[in-house]
Amino acid sequence: MKRIRKAVFPVAGLGTRFLPATKAIPKEMLPVVDRPVIQHVVDEAREAGIEHFIFVTGRNKGVIEDHFDKQFELEATLERRGKTAELELLSSDLPGAGQTSFTRQQEPLGLGHAVWCARELVGDEPFALLLPDMLHHGPRGCLAGMMEVHRETGGNVISVYEVPRDQVSQYGIVGVGESRGKSFRITSMVEKPKPADAPSNYMISGRYILQPDIFALLEKQTVGAGGEIQLTDSMLALLQTQPFFGYRFEGRIFDCGSKIGFLAANVAYALARDDIAPAFRNELKALLG
Ligand code: UTP
Repeated sequence: MKRIRKAVFPVAGLGTRFLPATKAIPKEMLPVVDRPVIQHVVDEAREAGIEHFIFVTGRNKGVIEDHFDKQFELEATLERRGKTAELELLSSDLPGAGQTSFTRQQEPLGLGHAVWCARELVGDEPFALLLPDMLHHGPRGCLAGMMEVHRETGGNVISVYEVPRDQVSQYGIVGVGESRGKSFRITSMVEKPKPADAPSNYMISGRYILQPDIFALLEKQTVGAGGEIQLTDSMLALLQTQPFFGYRFEGRIFDCGSKIGFLAANVAYALARDDIAPAFRNELKALLG
């Protein structure tokens, strides 16, 4: 079985739900505590053993590329001032030379189209896909758990998360088949169903391990729900010929593309930090009265 070496991060969306904050700053660069959202997700991929990081960017996203590069002036200044802890942090956050690639989605035609834009960089091997605005917060990274499942099952693996029935119409939802250890066989997928039509209340939470055959299906695809080229439609086509497994993430998920999710993520990540939590807890208590 081929090892999963590469991960794709689609970061070409417009982030309209976060205007005006995202007029000049990509939403993926908004900080959760003191790290940009995208850094948290790259950290998750590195923990899972990913070796190559592919970013599908768009206009106004150049700062993401700068973030994953050395900043010589800053580093020289930190060195002169003896700020070794900060220097070490900067260098440990950075993927190694030649481990990043950037390609552009020229128009935001949908997530499926953004993934298809990475086809040449991924090549003919299974790969991970991480949606940066969905932060998966738990004792263990979500992708690391999915890798373990993939080593046992092969095929395609998707992380899923239980949501209340009345929220299923906001997400891609999977049908649940036979259990297999920590995972289960996926029997169907539907994008943003009405609660009455939803096959379960397990949402597709934004982490995938996909076989490269998805690219040929994405290539043929026309626009679907919401006028966008949907990834779910091509996964559904792939499900006819290849197995898909659901991985139940044990932790909390924050949709940082929404204001409430982003604010809640900041609180949760701050409360999980030993250096910040005690003082922050006092501030929260004072605010909540
Ligand atoms: P979203 O729909 O949540 O992102 O896409 P968006 O379009 O930026 O946000 P809003 O709705 O306008 O606020 C999920 C992920 O897919 C990427 C986004 O960057 C985000 O990480 N995406 C989406 C693309 O890269 N290209 C697209 O055409 C659409």
